[in-house]
Amino acid sequence: MNPILLAEAVKSVGTPAYVYDLDAIRDGVRALKAAFGTERHHIAYAVKANSAAEIVRTIAREGAGADVVSGAELGLSLACGIAAERIVYSGVAKRDDELDRAISSGTDGIGAIQVESVEEIARIEARAAFMGWKARVSLRINPGVELEDLSTHAHIATGHDEAKFGVPITDVSRALAALSRAPHLVLVGLTAHGGSQFTTTAPYVASAKALFALAREVLKTHKLDYVDAGGGFGIDYGDGCEATPADFVRAALEEKKAHGLDALALYVEPGRALVGSHGVLVGRIIQQKVVSDRRWVMLDTGMNDLMRPALYGAKHRIELADRAHQGDRAWRVVGPVCESSDDFGEHALGENPEGLVAIRDAGAYGYSMASRYNGRALPAEVFVSEGKVIAARARDDDEAWIKDRLAAGR
Ligand SMILES: Cc1ncc(COP(=O)(O)O)c(C=O)c1O
Repeated sequence: MNPILLAEAVKSVGTPAYVYDLDAIRDGVRALKAAFGTERHHIAYAVKANSAAEIVRTIAREGAGADVVSGAELGLSLACGIAAERIVYSGVAKRDDELDRAISSGTDGIGAIQVESVEEIARIEARAAFMGWKARVSLRINPGVELEDLSTHAHIATGHDEAKFGVPITDVSRALAALSRAPHLVLVGLTAHGGSQFTTTAPYVASAKALFALAREVLKTHKLDYVDAGGGFGIDYGDGCEATPADFVRAALEEKKAHGLDALALYVEPGRALVGSHGVLVGRIIQQKVVSDRRWVMLDTGMNDLMRPALYGAKHRIELADRAHQGDRAWRVVGPVCESSDDFGEHALGENPEGLVAIRDAGAYGYSMASRYNGRALPAEVFVSEGKVIAARARDDDEAWIKDRLAAGR
């Protein structure tokens, strides 16, 4: 999205505002789908990356389903028109009411509840038995890839053996035994998710290899419909990203074939790769601060709106959005929140930066992680298609926050 369009897009809602390019999101899903060719597959969009209905619907219209991690995300996905059987549900601590919703959604329950521990099997069985329904489940295994081989930030690496996620491969026989004592559960798949923001296919393939080798073993005694290699496709935040989403799919398909699993469908669960590059956080420079040779620009947007820099040390490209580039003078770009980690790093903003800034590649894990910390309002959201704003949501206001905080008072 060009700067003129960004400035235009936030005119009615002000800043901070996330601006999303729905056409680019749609085209990304199409390109990902094309990578599967004629192979049986399912794209389960990881709704946690961005749960705005306009975005979920845009992705769903292209035939994708959803990967959800809460009853609320499940309800939202259904409300956005995704059929229950096209939804998979991950999460290490699903509440009973969330399980009930998954078991009883649609005519036949959701596509699969992804089991994250042996202990969870008895809980899902008990809920399904209580409700008198059968529930489809997939075993989310922990592929046990070494943390350094996952080559991503430790906070977003999930497929190593110290992570809380998934059933360790060494526990799979125990899980299968527990499933054999669960008449209301039907095993349909095996799932692995190694981590996020992989910039090459190597860690994805390492996780998929462990998954596919296990699937071969499980198929000796059980039926399976699919293997799910998870999400994790990286995007270019400015330092490059060697592999495209299609490369991840092609690499996984090749491995699946090499493991003789042609009869099984391949599921993937991309989040970031479908939305990350197609969202911009637009903020406004409130003021500059210069102390001898130190220079800051203070924004009206910070870690409360975009947490990734504070949480993972992530770097986002930042540029002036409503005026031409003014040279390479570097400024430390910081937000308004009372935390030292509310810091977007050094950026070349020129001699006298003023006006709007565009914080690039903020479409994933941006708004969905935003908070009202420091009493700051949740940012606005603007949805653009064919160069025009087609929908917008205003920033919630200070009065709404005050009312919320007063709500439980006596
Ligand atoms: C189980 C699962 N699937 C998919 C995803 C999406 O990952 P990404 O946004 O990196 O594609 C995540 C992210 O945390 C996840 O935990």
